[in-house]
Amino acid sequence: MNDKIFIMDHPLLQHKLTFLRDKNTGTQQFRALVSEIANLLCYEATRDLPLMEVQTETPIRMAATKVIAGRKLAFVPILRAGLGMVDGVLQLVPSAKVGHIGLYRDEETLQPVEYYNKLPPDTNERDVIVLDPMLATGGSAIDAISIVKRSNPRSVKFLCIIAAPEGLKALSEAHPDVQIYCAALDEKLNENGYIVPGLGDAGDRIFGTK
Ligand code: PRP
Ligand code: URA
Repeated sequence: MNDKIFIMDHPLLQHKLTFLRDKNTGTQQFRALVSEIANLLCYEATRDLPLMEVQTETPIRMAATKVIAGRKLAFVPILRAGLGMVDGVLQLVPSAKVGHIGLYRDEETLQPVEYYNKLPPDTNERDVIVLDPMLATGGSAIDAISIVKRSNPRSVKFLCIIAAPEGLKALSEAHPDVQIYCAALDEKLNENGYIVPGLGDAGDRIFGTK
């Protein structure tokens, strides 16, 4: 494992992940859990935001306190399933801009197919956090990050909920500069490119399409 990969083992994350994996969890609860887990992942991924000192008058006296030093963020969910993570991360950074990249995996080839791309015009001044609950073969994340990098962002991080070893390896080799945060590293991919044990199809479970 390299120093750009963070597998979060916080008890709250592991607890929520158990219910997310459960096939009996319904759409409403699944959505809420994706959002809560995204929030916790984002909390960790923003740990290195720079601070600056300001003077604040408390009811007792003036104090030297800290605020985030004007760093601009953009979140970029990969459609569709990445959309489920947006609310959770915006709760922590409400001022962030949100771009969208539409990709789906061709069911035969498992190759990502791009169908939408809209990023903030000032992406070159922003730190970008790409969101997708599932890192399976890694194809979608690799392509999405390549698209984001064309806009010359200051930095790129990737947040996912479950990763397969195959996808983690492929992504860290294709984009060695990108920090990857995930809540679980699973066992493997099956013959259909699904993560085992995983949680099934994240997009279908978030949007109730199956
Ligand atoms: C899923 C998931 C990722 C991708 C991961 O999306 O949300 O984007 O598969 O697989 P990969 O690592 O092998 O590329 P899917 O293509 O099912 O589209 P959807 O979100 O619209 O359902
Ligand atoms: N996409 C999903 O939604 N789930 C998987 O297990 C793999 C890719």
